[in-house]
Amino acid sequence: MKTSKLVEKIPPSGIRVFFDLVLGMKDIISLGIGEPDFVTPWPVREAAIFSIEEGYTSYTSNKGMVELRTDISRHLKNRYHLKYDPENEILITVGVSEAFDLAVRSIINPGDKILVPEPYYVSYGPLVTLAGGIPVFIKQSPENGFKLTPEDILKYCDSKTKAIILNYPNNPTGVSYTKQELRAISKIVSKKDLIMISDEIYGDLTYDFDHTPFPTLPGMKERTIYLNGFSKSYAMTGWRIGYACGPKDVIAMMTKIHQYTILCAPIMSQMAAGEALKNGERSIFDMKREYKRRREYVVTGLNEIGLTCHKPEGAFYAFPSIKSSRFSSMEFAKKLLEKERVALVPGTAFGPSCEGYVRISYASSINNIKEALIRIKRFLCSQSS
Ligand SMILES: Cc1ncc(COP(=O)(O)O)c(C=O)c1O
Repeated sequence: MKTSKLVEKIPPSGIRVFFDLVLGMKDIISLGIGEPDFVTPWPVREAAIFSIEEGYTSYTSNKGMVELRTDISRHLKNRYHLKYDPENEILITVGVSEAFDLAVRSIINPGDKILVPEPYYVSYGPLVTLAGGIPVFIKQSPENGFKLTPEDILKYCDSKTKAIILNYPNNPTGVSYTKQELRAISKIVSKKDLIMISDEIYGDLTYDFDHTPFPTLPGMKERTIYLNGFSKSYAMTGWRIGYACGPKDVIAMMTKIHQYTILCAPIMSQMAAGEALKNGERSIFDMKREYKRRREYVVTGLNEIGLTCHKPEGAFYAFPSIKSSRFSSMEFAKKLLEKERVALVPGTAFGPSCEGYVRISYASSINNIKEALIRIKRFLCSQSS
């Protein structure tokens, strides 16, 4: 069949390419997948079961159930003093994945540029390209702790630059930003008249300081498309539920695409998400405490075996340097898998400048992490002897 040249050019996700190798292998310790090892909290599952028993099996409003939009609005107001009108400033989507795609497609005209800080989440570049835009990758140096600076933005901006994507806490580095750092970035966003697409899916998993949503910064609410969801903090990846908040004109554009492509997010998932917002706080707290404990363990362990690793401020990823091993990140990941049956993700899946790094997910039990560290150490020793 004659397929789209544009789609042909898009490379497959580096994470998938690597995990195709893992498929079918037995007894693997996988620290590769970016998904909670917890099951969705029981009251949330129960709410969905109940909704099915009660016969909630239909479409909802394209924008999502008004009850859920109201719950999200209340949640953001209570937690961050962030006010969004449930009527026309919130859209319920099929995960942050869909919300991101809609956000990009709603703002791009052919040839517009979008700044994508690198390391990046794997979907960003391809989705910008598919929308007819040009992703401009801003390489962030490890010396700078993989943090985006106002100077970086200035350096890469030109007259075609329309927007910037920021993801914090970050996948894959775990880096997050303090209010002061975000304020400095916001000044350049204003100065250069940019739209901010802020992917804050890991916002609840911030360990060392309070998370600051980008739209809470002065003058930023009208410039920001704020994306969040339930996959990570509530362990709800399989429910496929997320949301976007923003100025009503852009939410109307996003809703237009969503109504033709998706119609609405599944009603059972919307019911479950409402329950998560009302009664899920305790579960988030418990999971976060456990991730924090694992973070200490992973970071200390990696540094002890000679893989330099900064301390991630959020999410559940560590991003150590493997430069001391003399392998490329793909070789390192493949050999470690072959010899010691530990799966992690080569840094290059998150951009070419991430050569020399690997991503380790600590959304796995402490026992798995302990055993993986022993195996990585043994692997490193066997290579140097
Ligand atoms: C930064 C980031 N954004 C978005 C997503 C997709 O999330 P969802 O399950 O809500 O589609 C992920 C999933 O790994 C992610 O890491």
